[in-house]
Amino acid sequence: METIYADHAATTFPRPQQVVDAMVNYLCNIGCNPGRGGYGRSLDAARLVYEARTLLAEFFHVPQPEQIIFTPSVTYSLNLVLKGLLQPGDHVIVSSMEHNAVVRPLTRLATERNLQVEKLTCKPDGTLEPKQLKDALRTNTRLIVLTHASNVTGTLLPVYEIGEILAGSDIFYCLDTAQTAGTEEINFQDLNCDYLAFTGHKGLLGPPGIGGLCLSERAAACTLPLVEGGTGSRSEQVQQPELLPDKFESGTQNVPGIAGLTAGVKLVQETGLQKIKKHKAELTAAFLDGLAGIPGIKVYGTKDAGKTTATVSLNLEGVDNGDLSFMLEQGFGIMTRSGLHCAPWAHQTIGSFPEGTLRFSFGLSSTVPEIEEIISALQTIAAEIA
Ligand SMILES: Cc1ncc(COP(=O)(O)O)c(C=O)c1O
Repeated sequence: METIYADHAATTFPRPQQVVDAMVNYLCNIGCNPGRGGYGRSLDAARLVYEARTLLAEFFHVPQPEQIIFTPSVTYSLNLVLKGLLQPGDHVIVSSMEHNAVVRPLTRLATERNLQVEKLTCKPDGTLEPKQLKDALRTNTRLIVLTHASNVTGTLLPVYEIGEILAGSDIFYCLDTAQTAGTEEINFQDLNCDYLAFTGHKGLLGPPGIGGLCLSERAAACTLPLVEGGTGSRSEQVQQPELLPDKFESGTQNVPGIAGLTAGVKLVQETGLQKIKKHKAELTAAFLDGLAGIPGIKVYGTKDAGKTTATVSLNLEGVDNGDLSFMLEQGFGIMTRSGLHCAPWAHQTIGSFPEGTLRFSFGLSSTVPEIEEIISALQTIAAEIA
């Protein structure tokens, strides 16, 4: 049986050959530690990491490459921001569509550091009005954390409008771009944001285990590192260096991951964000169109393919979404994700808690014939259970 991968919101698959080749090239032909030696291979590794930093700074429109920090994931980056910035008594604003990568560390910190956490409740389609944020601001508001798009419904949040509201204020602004980097235009400077957390293994087409954080200068100065240790620089000093990116990058880097991410980002640039977005919007529109004709299907989130990523959550009346996911794989080779997708607040917002949803998400390698096969499979199952 042929298979169809419809879980690109979880991770990209299959990985482009260029990504695999770049990783193998590092492992076989370079192999050494960047910034830890003066010999050729170590310098080659350092050049590789610098090239990646420069590429990502250009990609996200960040002024200096040193403002890009490599981390293992967006989860790590968000933990770094929350744990490194927030002080007792701070007021923090988040949306009700946030992933547990924000919700869980914030829940712990709320108790440990006596934070005031305010959740902006999005509409049942996952959208947020910028005015809601304006009304929530207080004199002790220290940080706003928003996901650029929900990983449950795909709904995009008005992150640029919110950046305009916050411009010139002393409130820090953090964006989680896990679901949008590599599809949406993300301009760090136009967003007026202080922290832009990204992950390499989704829309950026890279391998798992590599992500990062772009920081404004003021954010870098006010944030403590999550991990301290060897940086290959200022080794005479027993305190963590303040210089960037070393302040936040201790220990041996995931250089194969960085090599793979570089190849992924180059592929995104060569293909073009507009073309990628158009392709995904066409797939989403075709999928939503097909779903509209199937009795018993309830689609969550906005139905406007221009206001969402290529992620669609649904339930089929009378069938548990876990069972539906199983039937799709066993009967038709279609891979999806069921349940709560690490985002319980989002399901409370859209009305699918605690049962969750079945999530389909499409990527650059997804095709219209695949969408047609998925629709046909859902029609068959819906007819069988009717
Ligand atoms: C919106 C959002 N934030 C954070 C994450 C966590 O990403 P990672 O596992 O790469 O850290 C995800 C992953 O699905 C996500 O969708």
